[in-house]
Amino acid sequence: MTYFLGLDLGTSAVKALLLSGEPTAEVRSYSVPLSLSTPRPGWSEQDPGDWWQASVRAIRELLSRTGTDAAEIQGIAVSGQMHGATLLDEAGHVLRPCILWNDQRSGAECDWITGRVGLDTLLEWVGNPALAGFTLPKLLWVRRHEPAIYSRIRTVLLPKDYLNFRLTGRLATDVSDASGTLLFDVAHRCWSEPLAQAVDVPTSWFPAALESTEVVGQVSADAADASGLHPGTPVVAGGADNACAAVGTGVVRTGQVLASIGTSGTLVAPMSEPRVDPAGRLHTFCHAVPDTWYAMGVVLSAGGSLQWWRSILFPGDEKNQTDAGYGAMLEGASRVPAGSDGLIFLPYLTGERTPHGDPDARGAFFGLSLRHGRDHLTRSVLEGVSFALADSADLMRALDVPLHTVRTTGGGAQSPLWREILASLLGSRVLTALTDSGPAFGAAILAGVGTGQWASVAEAADALVHITKETPPDEYLQGVYSGYHRLYDRLYPSLAGDFAALARLAENGDRR
Ligand code: XUL
Repeated sequence: MTYFLGLDLGTSAVKALLLSGEPTAEVRSYSVPLSLSTPRPGWSEQDPGDWWQASVRAIRELLSRTGTDAAEIQGIAVSGQMHGATLLDEAGHVLRPCILWNDQRSGAECDWITGRVGLDTLLEWVGNPALAGFTLPKLLWVRRHEPAIYSRIRTVLLPKDYLNFRLTGRLATDVSDASGTLLFDVAHRCWSEPLAQAVDVPTSWFPAALESTEVVGQVSADAADASGLHPGTPVVAGGADNACAAVGTGVVRTGQVLASIGTSGTLVAPMSEPRVDPAGRLHTFCHAVPDTWYAMGVVLSAGGSLQWWRSILFPGDEKNQTDAGYGAMLEGASRVPAGSDGLIFLPYLTGERTPHGDPDARGAFFGLSLRHGRDHLTRSVLEGVSFALADSADLMRALDVPLHTVRTTGGGAQSPLWREILASLLGSRVLTALTDSGPAFGAAILAGVGTGQWASVAEAADALVHITKETPPDEYLQGVYSGYHRLYDRLYPSLAGDFAALARLAENGDRR
């Protein structure tokens, strides 16, 4: 048998997945949970050493549970949570916990970069605005607040590249992950010297950016000892989790769109050229497919909003903290009328990226009344997140990015109700694939393409991704939602100043 191993370094778990190279393309996977540290409100960190430990455990378990001979694995690729700043010293040791994609501490650094360079020049050089989630502002935060650590940095890696480093001993990244650093010239698929000079950060700290299907190196003897993998197995560069999720759902050509509802929610639309929103509200990143880019909108708390709401509803209730808890909540929400009887949820629990790049934005239930109960609030969470994703679709249409069919992935997309709301708000059929194994599946496909099993990413995706469910838009819902969506869109602009005031109050609050 021939196998390909895809590893996805998520925020809440590492998933190892085996894809068989036979026509049946069988998939088996095993996940190991990860914990998140939030030392202060708005901060979000993980220890890269924990990623490695979780990865080797996931790989070992997967190999033993499936009885797979590691020598039959022809190639490996890793997909990962984007943007995290993993800082290494001269000897390749980690200098501090990684500051993650959903960490909001670097708002002041974003203002500094934009003030120094100007939004238009940033968009010209790197295709994206300075946002607190991206890597460069985090690096500048470390320069200002932790100078002793900053002075020892010799390498900056994205999270999945740290795993590639532990697997192979080689320092490298790929173009899709490099795109999220803000230091990458997305149009030319190389590091941006002009921006690096303007902010005085050496590009030598950033490793070579390969295409996602290029080979980084081979599994080292040490990594083989730790993980049970076969030494010498080729490791392919892999990609950002959103790019890999797109590959794994077959979203590899223009006209296709991926709507993903995990902790974050994203809308990913491939482009044959790097189009940039003139106001920088969408991200423009390199795809894991050579010569292809994608436009992306990011809702920071999508499934994360529902997870938060579940933890409020069922505090400490083990049973309801499982997927069964979601089932009961979603069942309740399906009995509430569209529009949640006049209730609108703003999903900005951890600030927002698209279309409002604002780390101070916060969540809200707007329109609460005595008639609203638990199920109304649940439904309004699903609707609010869907309004936010539909805002990204509107920005893409304004950029002439074609959006013909939408494919979904992620835990949220397993809900028929959420899919129906989404299809109605996006105005498109929503398709779901038979194997929804997320970014790890896309990574396994990249491993196969990079080691010659398939000639191209598109060929592999066509052969392996089978659509089994289709959710059409519902005309009645579309009618109800058009008014609600317009009102939803008016709420952020009228609250933006108050969100900033609230952030200042919370910052200077009672310190007793
Ligand atoms: C995308 C983003 C998130 C993370 C989640 O820009 O920040 O989707 O990649 O893992």
